[in-house]
Amino acid sequence: MMRLYIQSCVLLLIMTCGFFNSNAQNLISKDTINNERLYRPYIHFTPKTGWMNDPNGMFFQNGTYHLYYQFYPNATVWGPMHWGHATSKDLIHWEHKPIAIYPDSLGLIFSGSAVVDKNNTSGLGTQKNPPIISIFTQHSMEGEKAGKNNFQNQSIAYSNDGGNTWKMYTGNPVIKNPGINDFRDPKVLWHEPTKRWIMVLAVKNKVFLYSSANLKEWDKESDFGELLGNHEGVWECPDLFQLSGNGKNYWVLSVSVNPGGPNKGSATQYFVGDFDGHQFSTNSNKTKWLDYGTDNYAGVTFSNTGNRKIAIGWMSNWLYAQQVPTYKWRSAMTIGRELGLQEVGEEMFVTSMPVKELKFYKSSVLSEGPITQTSAYQLNVQGSKINSFTITLQNEEGESLDFGYDQATNQYFIDRSFAGVHDFHKEFAALHSAPRISTNSNFTFKVLIDKTSIEIFADNGLTVMTDIFFPSSPYNSVTIQSTNEELRKNIKMSSFLAQ
Ligand code: FRU
Repeated sequence: MMRLYIQSCVLLLIMTCGFFNSNAQNLISKDTINNERLYRPYIHFTPKTGWMNDPNGMFFQNGTYHLYYQFYPNATVWGPMHWGHATSKDLIHWEHKPIAIYPDSLGLIFSGSAVVDKNNTSGLGTQKNPPIISIFTQHSMEGEKAGKNNFQNQSIAYSNDGGNTWKMYTGNPVIKNPGINDFRDPKVLWHEPTKRWIMVLAVKNKVFLYSSANLKEWDKESDFGELLGNHEGVWECPDLFQLSGNGKNYWVLSVSVNPGGPNKGSATQYFVGDFDGHQFSTNSNKTKWLDYGTDNYAGVTFSNTGNRKIAIGWMSNWLYAQQVPTYKWRSAMTIGRELGLQEVGEEMFVTSMPVKELKFYKSSVLSEGPITQTSAYQLNVQGSKINSFTITLQNEEGESLDFGYDQATNQYFIDRSFAGVHDFHKEFAALHSAPRISTNSNFTFKVLIDKTSIEIFADNGLTVMTDIFFPSSPYNSVTIQSTNEELRKNIKMSSFLAQ
């Protein structure tokens, strides 16, 4: 009865609105459904509603991946930050969970990380039930408005139920701001040789490294990066992790910079070197980018994944993130990527490839020409000799997305100039390019295409590009152009089962 009453009230309201502006109402509802159908990705994580930016606090435990993220539930633009939460068994299918951490009197909940405190060093759990500790920046809006310079401080929260619910530590903040405007995004790891926790923190144009025995008291060890890498923008969201390559272990320090990216706006750079428990050092002074596309920012790795190093990034760019044409939600995450190291010449480079779990979702094999199936796609091209090639996705509107390799410049590229809607930002429609790092004549080129994103992993992940786009209708044909017949014949495509 009550439901019937509410329903008729809603109907009455709609009819009343309709009386004044029936066309506009119809358009909005149709548009919303259409927008959802057109733009909500199949195999990439998006919040149900609201605004999302950086991935936060990612950890793995008992077969479950936890993803937290910068979340503003009340609008589709950036606002007071919470930590949203989702879990997955395979990094592809995500289950939405209630908001994990809410702002409190110390401020909003900015980016940070989480660790499994196996030995209960913090004393915030028990030996039998070790706690999960999250470490994040609290940003005081009041402090910022009052013109202070110490409005970003580091706090911790703890979970005694595997990351589902969190309690704020009463001794927060655990690191007080010494009077520096940009002082944020703590990423914490366990350093076995010194048996201490290490934190890497973004501080204006460099990173600070801290150590701790218990995650509550921290000592500054060193800083890194003031004179290295790209400094066109502020440094944010650093990470520090080990990878092996050429039978040796290396340390990688990655850090996002905004603006300053190789194709404008936000992007993530990295350094390969050594970490002795106190200081990070590198022999290389080359600026290296994890991803040359415009849409992979603030990416960091999961903790507690053993020898696998898995990263996820925010698939957008601060240049236009708040204007992209989605209504109910804004932004998606990149596909989970497994990181590795490869030597080219004298330099070590980080490689990224989509996580192997994606294999379980491959369904039918496709071929060049019309695409009838609506789903996400994977494309693989390989050959013994690389020559220029262009792959084109097109829709009935004549909008097209071009991507491939240009031999004259030795660059991979994505051209989204004519890919679809772009009037929301003047710099969105553009051609983006990336250097080919590999010096081999043979090549591999793996591409993931979802409704609004393309991720290219060339040469086993040595050159990576991620771009988003917004076609007015789904692309329904794929063609490949190249003077090299072998390359044309070697294109393999398959679709993924829709989520
Ligand atoms: C990066 C960033 C972080 C900050 C968060 C706020 O995109 O600016 O430095 O913690 O977003 O939402």
